[in-house]
Amino acid sequence: MATSVNTLTDQAYQQCTSPDCGATFDTGEVLTACPQCGSLLDVAYDWDRASVPDSLRWFEQKWARRNDPLCRSGVWRFYELLPFAPPEKIVTIGEGQTPLHLTDGVGRYIGLNPGQLFLQYEGMNPSGSFKDNGMTAAFTHARTIGAKRAACASTGNTSASLALYCCASKLMQAVIVIGSGKISYGKLSQALDYGALTIQIAGDFDDAMQRVREVSEQLGIYLVNSVNPFRLEGQKTIMYRVLESLGWEVPDWIVVPGGNLGNSSAFGKAFHELHELGLIDRLPRLAVINAAGADTLHQLYNVHQVRWNDGRPDSATIASYFARLDSAATKADTIASAIEINRPVNLTKCLRALDWCDGVVREATDQQILDAKAQVGANGFGCEPASAASVAGARLLREEGVVAPSDRVVCILTGHQLKDPTATVAYHTTDQDEFNRVLGKRGVSRAAFANRAVKVDNDLDEIVRAIQLNS
Ligand code: F0G
Repeated sequence: MATSVNTLTDQAYQQCTSPDCGATFDTGEVLTACPQCGSLLDVAYDWDRASVPDSLRWFEQKWARRNDPLCRSGVWRFYELLPFAPPEKIVTIGEGQTPLHLTDGVGRYIGLNPGQLFLQYEGMNPSGSFKDNGMTAAFTHARTIGAKRAACASTGNTSASLALYCCASKLMQAVIVIGSGKISYGKLSQALDYGALTIQIAGDFDDAMQRVREVSEQLGIYLVNSVNPFRLEGQKTIMYRVLESLGWEVPDWIVVPGGNLGNSSAFGKAFHELHELGLIDRLPRLAVINAAGADTLHQLYNVHQVRWNDGRPDSATIASYFARLDSAATKADTIASAIEINRPVNLTKCLRALDWCDGVVREATDQQILDAKAQVGANGFGCEPASAASVAGARLLREEGVVAPSDRVVCILTGHQLKDPTATVAYHTTDQDEFNRVLGKRGVSRAAFANRAVKVDNDLDEIVRAIQLNS
């Protein structure tokens, strides 16, 4: 229960995630860590004051009111499960109209029985990635406190999303900090087109993240990275939509790529809250998949056995892991540029989610990620490389026998295929130099599912022959 007065709604407050601290704060405060102990913060609710329905089916009545923007949004139609802002302050651009697809072709590739593999296609959001789920929430909070500028560090998708919300709403200026040469053109082009003030630093995402925190603090700019607890409230709704599409049945597995670990943290919180509220009877298992070139979570969880441990994770082991990364000047390196992150800011919240959801962590190589991505493409959905880590990871877990063929598995496709055409074209190319330039240096040696363009002269007979030979 909040001890302070809550200026935005009387149902929500902020709370430190450390059980040794547990301090609470007004939702009108702008915080990215607990001022008392430095731990991450949650948005917490006084559910007795909130109007939570007694069945998830209650939300279905909102489908009939799709002309109301708050019912059309796939985030805000679940308002009763994230009531931190007054409805009239909500900023929505129609995010969250995302489908869950049964995809047997990809299920076969993973090794699942027909009818068991679902892809949650978050690439269908307005800016082409899942980030819009969180951005609408963070942006709404920023508006309630009267922010004029909002900033983020980004591997590309957060910045595209922030830039879009800023230019669509005209409420704030976007300031984005990105690493040099680290962002795919699809994403960079969005930020530039949408008019964001784009600061490119000589460094990578981890450097940009550190800098944007300092800059936001110094200049009083509202920070929308996933250390912002309001952002994760919006990302909870991805799981509500998965449940909705499954007729409110809980799947066996949720598989998600892990970068800054915001999604996995939000998903765990979503299920934990639904369970506490008695709206679901069990939690799904959670699998978080790192890229092998950016595998901090895998190293800490599987090699060093770091666990949530009732809110007291082994901070000495974590600190010495990062000290070793620094002394060896180790930088994250993967074709899945969206998750090229070595210092995930939501590490402890993700450990908590893994604890709640009996989770597992795996890493997938760039080769495995690109092969999985080609399978996603060949079965009717595009996704960017980072998203395919979920499919690659599900396949690994199936091979190990951790996932059974009869399990019902949901893989989250976090970003649209067109976000990163360079990786896709390089995978399918016949040009060995191009393949080596983009992929070879990352240990990708073959393109098992390549769909190669057939090169012929500008000659009618040759074109006809090429079509006849290849069809
Ligand atoms: N997939 C995509 C397409 C992403 O853009 C990101 C993160 C992730 C997965 C990882 O999600 O951080 O919640 O574990 N992109 C951030 C960005 C870091 O700046 O756009 P996470």
